[in-house]
Amino acid sequence: MHIGFLNPQGNFDRHDSYWTEHPDFGGQLIYVKNVAVEMAKHGHNVDIITRQIIDPEWSEFSEKFDHYPDTPNVRIIRLPAGPKEFLRKELLWSHLVRDWIPNILQFYQEEGNFPDVMTSHYGDGGISGVLIEAEVGIPFTFTAHSLGALKMDKLEVTPENIPEMDEHYHFGRRIVAERLSMNRSAVNITSTTDQERFKQYAHPAYRGAVDVKNDDRFAEIPPGVDPSLFDIESRSPNEEETYQLIQERLARDIEEERRDLPAIIAASRLAPKKNHLGLVQAFAESETLQEKANLVIFTQGEDNPLREPVSNHTAEKEVLIPIREVVNNNNLGGKISAFSLPDQPALAAAYRFFVQRHSVFALTSHHEPFGLGPIEAALAGLPLVVTQNSGLRESLREGDEVYGILIDPENPAAIAQGLEEVLSDPQRWERLHKACRQHVWNYYTWKTTAIDYLNLIEEIVASPNACRPDELLPIHPYFRDPRPENDVSLDELKELYFQSSLSSS
Ligand code: F6P
Repeated sequence: MHIGFLNPQGNFDRHDSYWTEHPDFGGQLIYVKNVAVEMAKHGHNVDIITRQIIDPEWSEFSEKFDHYPDTPNVRIIRLPAGPKEFLRKELLWSHLVRDWIPNILQFYQEEGNFPDVMTSHYGDGGISGVLIEAEVGIPFTFTAHSLGALKMDKLEVTPENIPEMDEHYHFGRRIVAERLSMNRSAVNITSTTDQERFKQYAHPAYRGAVDVKNDDRFAEIPPGVDPSLFDIESRSPNEEETYQLIQERLARDIEEERRDLPAIIAASRLAPKKNHLGLVQAFAESETLQEKANLVIFTQGEDNPLREPVSNHTAEKEVLIPIREVVNNNNLGGKISAFSLPDQPALAAAYRFFVQRHSVFALTSHHEPFGLGPIEAALAGLPLVVTQNSGLRESLREGDEVYGILIDPENPAAIAQGLEEVLSDPQRWERLHKACRQHVWNYYTWKTTAIDYLNLIEEIVASPNACRPDELLPIHPYFRDPRPENDVSLDELKELYFQSSLSSS
């Protein structure tokens, strides 16, 4: 089969440039690349279609074609959309309609070889799937990754701040695009059923677009991890170098007699929603934890953020200043270290380094749509203490068994208790260390994800409209002709977001 991936935001190249360093280069790109590569290993021809960027600051993305080493049947195809320079994802909408989609259609027309099916990612890929399907009839799947209405909830959008929020995030366009994507897709792919399908898609802002209870167009396909990178038995090209780097940073930050202790590992972007503060508070409140372990935070791009100001204003103001305060007020200096690791292989190596010291992985985000980071850490052998407000609630469960400890991220005492349970009980550590890894091998590798996609895609290609409703939502004028007068108005957004919320309560 010939399969296209529609992913305009961020970008792709053979070096995985900027992964996890920029909000548009996070889990979604890792997902798309890995599923594409695994599908290709099954003999399919795969195109990752993204945006061409001709910008000296982002020089990796200027060529029209690129590919990954050893995977010739995955093409990265970059096509222009609006100005040449890099644009954050919130600013892409009109350029997708005006340029990107016509460029995709023209590209395949010239090649004379359209994909059999598109997989679309995020609302921007989704609306592209909608418009391409409307134009040339290629069916598409929609994988939301993150839904706009949930982000509005998290940002506490109110009738007062909505104009300002919409101006920055363009939630109106995003929600209309998501509604169309879920309404017109052949199948909506979610990572989890209880969390994503029944809670997130059930957000009132999507009412009338999709029926979460009765619609057959939902498939649960969990994301996976790459065992060749993260498994405890694997080795990264920079394994030894990373061990050396860790030793140096521990020597820089941790009191000498504590340097061989286990660590509580956190590894996510310095963003408020990741709630590093809750973890630091838990550590500060628990003498047991301080006695048993150090707290080690991998910070991606910032090498000494507990002591030196960082350039990212939000990270500095909303994450680091409060953390530094807790560290100082509780004399945690010498027990906590934060530093940057250069890339994913180094992250995997770091997990293996700390597993030898019987460490634990913690994720205390206020909310996580799925929570892939912990799954990677578990494959490397780290027991997990993770937020219950996430897909992990489902993914770590099998029958009555839970492969990790789920905690309430809003309660530092609960976080501390979860960590203490593993760090104070060597048998529990050993059990979780083995069982979590096996659970990940059984259910969460990219190979499994790709096979599930392929099975689904075969059904879609055989019968593209099998489950689509007879009456589809009309395409909003903005996505037919993105002139300012056609834009999704604030009143429309308010109607979708607030009125629907009111009517649901
Ligand atoms: O790749 C980055 C990512 O993981 C994507 O899924 C998505 O672009 C983003 O994080 C979350 O999106 P948002 O904050 O706009 O909901």
